[in-house]
Order: sequence, then structure tokens, then C-alpha cells
Amino acid sequence: MKGVLFDLDGILTDTAKFHFAAWSRLAQEELGVILPAEFESELKGVSRVDSLVRIMDYAGIMNNYSPAEIKKLANKKNDYYVKAISSLTRADILPGITEFLDELTEHQVACAIASASKNAPLILKNLGLSDYFAAIADPAKVAHGKPAPDIFLAAADTLGIDPKECVGIEDAVAGVTAIKASGALAIGVGDTQELKEADIVVPTTNELDYKLLTQTFAEKY
Ligand code: BG6
Ligand code: MG
Repeated sequence: MKGVLFDLDGILTDTAKFHFAAWSRLAQEELGVILPAEFESELKGVSRVDSLVRIMDYAGIMNNYSPAEIKKLANKKNDYYVKAISSLTRADILPGITEFLDELTEHQVACAIASASKNAPLILKNLGLSDYFAAIADPAKVAHGKPAPDIFLAAADTLGIDPKECVGIEDAVAGVTAIKASGALAIGVGDTQELKEADIVVPTTNELDYKLLTQTFAEKY
């Protein structure tokens, strides 16, 4: 194992509540729709514009908007979201993550971000985690979002490491599918049943450690 490819939202910090609050405000103000609570998990790992398309589908209004109007709405949601994440600090890093990153650094394992979020650099900066990552794959430069493997392939490529020598870490079903399709070993964080496609699933980020990764890697290859 030479590299670890991290999802960000739900792995380094819990941003789903901020995404959901921003989408809820937009949906209510601009579309006149109240989003049901299920949307919080449904939008995990889904790109900004695809999230808006799903919300419009739910509201049954997709056809009334031009691409320019869709972009304007997505930007507005992002303004709300960016305001919310500006208050993130080290205290918002999920349990065990800093220790895990220290361990990977100690063992000279390269780390990269493979997130669908265009706000990844800002979030890393606010959490004080930027220095741990040798690369942040740019979601604007990949053709297909998760569950396609593109962002994990791009992250491994930026590190200059074969994806087969990498481990990917994800909390979303689409993300685990993307890791498996890239050829990397998949570690799921969350519900075992939901993330059953992963090579191994741990309940929380607190269980992530170097030994678990190397052991799982040795068992699979
Ligand atoms: C993913 C989140 O990581 O990034 C999604 O799980 C989000 O909910 C997507 O829509 C895109 O994020 P952003 O910050 O570019 O709007
Ligand atoms: Mg995630």
C-alpha cells in the first residue's frame, strides 16, 4: 500500500448537515419546496448540479429552467454553504482522523483528496489539514462524477501511484462503487449493509488506522 485516497465530506468532517441546510433554504426560497429529511443522505457524494437536478426532479419542475438559471441557483446554494463552512475549525475534524493522518505520514504513505466538492481546498484549510495531502484531485476536471472511478483515478495519478497500490476511504455508496471501479481497495465508513460493496467497513472514523489498512491490503492481494 503506497497511497490513501480520501473522500472529504463525511470522512474528514461532517458537512452533510451544512449541504442539506443550504439546499433546504434554496429549495424553499427559490422553488417553493420543503425538502424531506431523507435528502440529507440522498445527496451524499452527489455533485452540486446533480444535487440540484435531483431536487428539481423531486419538485417536478425540471423543465422550466434554462442551463443559465440552473447555474445561478447552484451558485446561490454554494454561497449559503460557503458561509456555513467558514466557521469550521480543527474542532470539527471527525474522531481519530488527525491521529490516522499522523500515522500515515510516519509510514510515508502518500495521501490525496478524491472529493466531488469544489470546496475541498477551503475546507482543508479551515480544518488545518492541508499539509497532510500531497494532492487534491479537481472534480471540475473529471468527465464523470461518482460512482464513476474518475476522481479516484485522478487522485492516484496526481500522486503518481498505481490505483491498485492505493486504498480509498468513503462514507457514500456511490463513492465505494467509484473506489472499486478504480481498482483501489475500498474502506467504507458507516453501515455494513449499506456499504457492502467495500472490502471492509468500519462504523466510524475512529476505527481507521494504519494496521487495519495494511492487514486488509495483505488479505486481498
Ligand atoms: C460531496 C458531497 O462530497 O460534494 C455532496 O457529499 C456535494 O453533498 C458534493 O454536493 C459537491 O460539493 P460542492 O462543495 O462542490 O458543492
Ligand atoms: Mg462523503
